[in-house]
Amino acid sequence: MKTFWVITISLIVVSCGIILAFLQPPEDLRFNWDNIIIDSSLVSSFPKSFLWGTATSSHQVEGNCNNNNWARWENIPGKILNGDKAGLACDHWNKYKEDIQLMKQLGVNTYRFSIEWSKIQPRMNEYSQEAIDHYEQVIDELIAQGIQPMITLHHFTNPLWFEDIGQFEIESNIQYFVNFSEFIFKKFSKKVTYWCVINESEVVAIVGHLFGFFPPGRHNIFQTFQVMKNLIKAHTQVYNRLKALPGGEKVMIGFVKNVMQFDPYNYWNPVERIVCGFLDYLWNGFMLNKLKVEKPLDFIGLNYYSHVNLKFQFTPPFINVAIPPEEQHLKTTMNYTVYAEGFYRALKLVSELNVPIIVTENGIADPSDTLRDIYLRRYLYSLKKAIEENIDVRGYIFWSLMDNFEWMEGYSQKFGLYEVNFNDANLTRTLRKSAKFFVDIVNKFNTLKKE
Ligand code: BGC
Repeated sequence: MKTFWVITISLIVVSCGIILAFLQPPEDLRFNWDNIIIDSSLVSSFPKSFLWGTATSSHQVEGNCNNNNWARWENIPGKILNGDKAGLACDHWNKYKEDIQLMKQLGVNTYRFSIEWSKIQPRMNEYSQEAIDHYEQVIDELIAQGIQPMITLHHFTNPLWFEDIGQFEIESNIQYFVNFSEFIFKKFSKKVTYWCVINESEVVAIVGHLFGFFPPGRHNIFQTFQVMKNLIKAHTQVYNRLKALPGGEKVMIGFVKNVMQFDPYNYWNPVERIVCGFLDYLWNGFMLNKLKVEKPLDFIGLNYYSHVNLKFQFTPPFINVAIPPEEQHLKTTMNYTVYAEGFYRALKLVSELNVPIIVTENGIADPSDTLRDIYLRRYLYSLKKAIEENIDVRGYIFWSLMDNFEWMEGYSQKFGLYEVNFNDANLTRTLRKSAKFFVDIVNKFNTLKKE
């Protein structure tokens, strides 16, 4: 009996050892923030051509995006917190001139926004001249005000006709997105240098097809991998098609990747490490490995918010999100924390692609406006550290210009540098106190650039 137990326990220990050895060791990086002084002078390490910007997406701010998969999803009870619907959103469609002035007040030189496919192509064979003219006016106004437009061609929303033929679940549907991208590129490529093809393919695939929180609300791991593959194919085909068009050689076309780390709550817990290893592969590794081989990109757009710690428990669901003690006071309302070390880790990770990096999103939901200042300081410190280590970062675009419709969280989350009063008919925008550090940094940068 004794021998049995010795052998069994030895086998368990050895197998755990082997599994741990095969898993990438988690990097629980921590900076000693008490000893780090962060002020606007950090910007002196940044290249003079650096892009400073803010971002939005059509469905979240424009208003009246009624002809897409999200509008339909919002009509299903229980899908969106408090039953919110994007509806008029921030009415950015009509207030874009005013909003561009808000950007000018921040001092930024770039604006990342998305073109709403369902407005441009409301039906499979129909294009809207009014929508094309609208985006042309937005682009012209930005340029007139000294702000570079950066276009995202797909930010989570599909026109209903595309959703109804099976969206990216079906490989042969990719052609419709490629044709739409070509159409937009031909219209605007003379005026727009920076292009993001698909925002966060892994979110579209995993949150929509595995977790089922986003449309089409499926729970199918095989389909999730299929959609990820199709989205990479869609990206690659768009990249190749646009690059071959006149002007293609002059523009920068990027792949926008959301990087999130899955870290074990207890470093030595093998179950936590196995789950984190798998999720890391699913969320980050799968796409990044493909990109490393195929390289269909002029830059990598990094969207980074935070990491997630996972903790094993003996009762269902067995694995749960848990905030480590040292991050308890840094919890945002999105149930993750301020973890700037993770931003540095993410920058290092995507630098392995050996293409320029643009941070296409980084920001925090902070309705009480108490954490955004520390968030900005720490994340920009991490950015500076990466730049000083010769990581080729070309821009930093904050999410978001203003509060907006936060997908399944509805209007409950407040990501804006500008607060939007959704109870007021004018949807008044007010600069948040915490935006000050961002404005200081950008102004310092602009002053240094002139010297
Ligand atoms: C998305 C944005 C979203 C932000 C904050 C990103 O994943 O691209 O649309 O609002 O995260 O959650």
